[in-house]
This record gives sequence, structure tokens and C-alpha cells, in this order.
Amino acid sequence: MDRMKGSARLMIVSDLDHTMVDHHDPENLSLLRFNALWEAKYREDSLLVFSTGRSLTLYKELRKEKPMLTPDITIMSVGTEITYGNSMTPDDGWVEILNQKWDKKIVLVEASKHPELTLQPETEQRPHKVSFYIKKDKAAEVTKALSECFVKHGLDVKIIYSGGIDLDILPQGAGKGQALAYLLKTLRAKGKLPKNTLACGDSGNDAELFSIPEVYGVMVSNAQEELLQWHAANAKDNPNIIHATERCAGGIIQAIGHFNLGPNISPRDVTDLSDTNLEKFDPAYEVVKFYLFFERWRRAEAEKSEIYLSNLKAVCGPCGFYVHPSGFEKPLHDCVDALRQCYGDKQGKHYRIWVDQVFSTQVSSDIWIVRFKKWEISGEEQSGCLTTALLSSKDASISQGLTWLQVHQTWLTGASASDQALWFF
Ligand code: GLC
Ligand code: MG
Repeated sequence: MDRMKGSARLMIVSDLDHTMVDHHDPENLSLLRFNALWEAKYREDSLLVFSTGRSLTLYKELRKEKPMLTPDITIMSVGTEITYGNSMTPDDGWVEILNQKWDKKIVLVEASKHPELTLQPETEQRPHKVSFYIKKDKAAEVTKALSECFVKHGLDVKIIYSGGIDLDILPQGAGKGQALAYLLKTLRAKGKLPKNTLACGDSGNDAELFSIPEVYGVMVSNAQEELLQWHAANAKDNPNIIHATERCAGGIIQAIGHFNLGPNISPRDVTDLSDTNLEKFDPAYEVVKFYLFFERWRRAEAEKSEIYLSNLKAVCGPCGFYVHPSGFEKPLHDCVDALRQCYGDKQGKHYRIWVDQVFSTQVSSDIWIVRFKKWEISGEEQSGCLTTALLSSKDASISQGLTWLQVHQTWLTGASASDQALWFF
């Protein structure tokens, strides 16, 4: 978050399972729509925070399975672990706060006296989180008994029931809401309090996110009963919290529009990508748009028209070069010609492209360097490369868009494509 000099325009704090990520959509369309919107319109001046119940181990698994963006801040294990940036540097100050009136050993011993509780896998047992599974009809009774018993031991704990199955025991000062409050306090102290914050969730452990003052909230349409009940009892008159009519990331986009937090039309929802009223040259939008066209071309969702190819040639500098991640180089115009052959080669197949962490730097009055990760999923295989592109606005009008002068790619660790000949741009 230190990459930004001032306050974020928008900070999105989102749960992952069944909120950002729709496990019932094998095509991941709402997530991909969100990704395109975020990278085109928000990445440079806004903050993306993932707040999940998962431990680092399970979080990494999810990232391998789903086309997820890289967040600026990650809050894991139900608000007990906060990390920053790509290096995931832990916030040690937060850990200290959680040690108060907490004793994991006592929690484990007392919980083991309740046969209704089944311990979750070892990866989900964390220094400040002990987690079980329990059936819905037993949850309230066991929660009550445990709470009374922990008070007798002088502990101050919080018991949270989520998804109609998971029971987490945490220090009282932990949880997704407290972690968000701590984050806001830290940002405020640095003079970087976001202009707007939007919390997004679907289940019990997300309820706390919606009780932080001055934060907008969206419960996605598919929210769990326990969250809706909490809302009805505690926040039903709060106009800053909505229950979306759209599922998962679709509900997040809907909330951005509802609360007027900024652009809310994903480039993925725009059919004619040339028809945009840009006010200035916009390298991030250019990158998102370019790869969307590419995906549509290969899926045969764009019309097979020479006009597209000649337009593309017009925005590729005549002397421009493409450096393939495996090392060879070829003129950009040859790359455009190669596209002719691959029209529709992914039609009806599982094939998607998305870009992550698109950052641009204006290096002179008419030149930008844009850096981003370009990912492709093709069938079962996911490949990605770090991309640097040099874009120019020389002799171009805003509506024509920027010219691509050079594109240089390097495989991301462990993510090279098995058929490198089929990797373009
Ligand atoms: C995630 C975690 C699990 C936790 C649940 C609810 O599924 O892996 O340990 O109980 O979220 O917070
Ligand atoms: Mg969830």
C-alpha cells in the first residue's frame, strides 16, 4: 500500500469463498468481470483487500484454482493474520494485540469435551484461531456452553458460526471486523484513510465487516441465512448496507454502482470496445481491452473481420517488436498476421485471459511503460507471464488510443505454457 502517495480512491475489502469467488460458476464469469473492471479503472489508485477465513495454505490453493487478482493486503484466518503486498509481509503489531486474554491450549481442551465438534484440518488451526465443524442444530447450544466456560477461565474469546458448518474460536479482539478497524486506523495514522471503503461478504464471519462505521457494505445475493439473520437483527435500517440481487462478484460490481463509488461497467460487459468515451490516454484500459479482444477473437466471439486486424496493425508501431517469453522476437505486425490463423481455435473450449496488477508509468510526454501479469487458462492449464509494454500517444488522438511500440514477456515461475507456439502476446 506504500505504492500510493495519498489516500486510495476506493478500498474494497472482500471475502473470497462465495463472495469474490463463485464456486458454482465453472466459467468464473463474475470474477473475470470484476477483474477487468478493477484493472482497467481502479488498480492504480485504489486498494484491494481480501479478507478470508482460509489460512495461507488454503488461500494459496484457491489462487491456483481460480482466476484471482493479487490483492494489496491479505487478511487471513478470519482476521487473525494481516499481510501486505506481494511479499505478504506480516503485520506483527496485530499479532501482539491478539495475545490478550487468549490461551489456545485451554480452548482446545474445553472444546474437546463436546463430541458434536469435529476438528478442522491442521492447516486451519492457527495461533489465534481454533476451528471446528458442527451441524446447524447443535451450533447455538455448544457456542453458549463454551462461551460460559471460557469466561470462567478468564479468557475473552469470540465464537463465530459460518456457512452453516464452520465454528471458529478466536481472541475477542480478532475477527474480520476488528482487523478492518485496525487497518483503517493504521491507514488514518499515515494520512491515507481511503475516500471510500466497501466491505463484501456472504456468511457469518463477514457480519463484523458490516458493523464498522463509515464503511459501505454489500451482502451478495447468495448470502447465507446466518448473515441475513444478523442483518435483520442488527443493521436493517442502515442504508449503507445492501443485499445485492446479483451473485458473488456480480453483487460487488452492483454495489459500486449503487453507492456511486466510481465506474461500474466492466469492460467485459462492453461488446464494442472501440466505442468508449475516454477523456485521456489510459494505458491500463488499453491493456485490458487488448487482451479482451484477443480472448474474444480466439473464442470466435468477435466477428472475423479484416477491419479488426487492420485496426490492430494501426495501433502497433511499424517498427515495434514482440519478445516472446521463451526468448525469440518478432515484429509486432507479424504477430497480428499470426492472429488470422488462430481465429476461433478456442471456440467452445475453456479459454480465458485476464491481466493482474497493471501499473503504468509515464516516462515522457508521450510514452508510457506498462507492467502487468498476463494469465491464460486453456483447458486444465494455467500459464502466465510478466509483461512489459511500451505505449506511445505520439500522433494519436485519444479515441484512436495508444500505439504499442514494444512488448516483452517473461514466464512467471512455474507458469510457462506447455505449447509455447500457441502463446501469443
Ligand atoms: C474457511 C477456513 C475455515 C473457517 C471458515 C469460516 O473455510 O478454512 O477454517 O472455519 O473459513 O471462517
Ligand atoms: Mg464466504
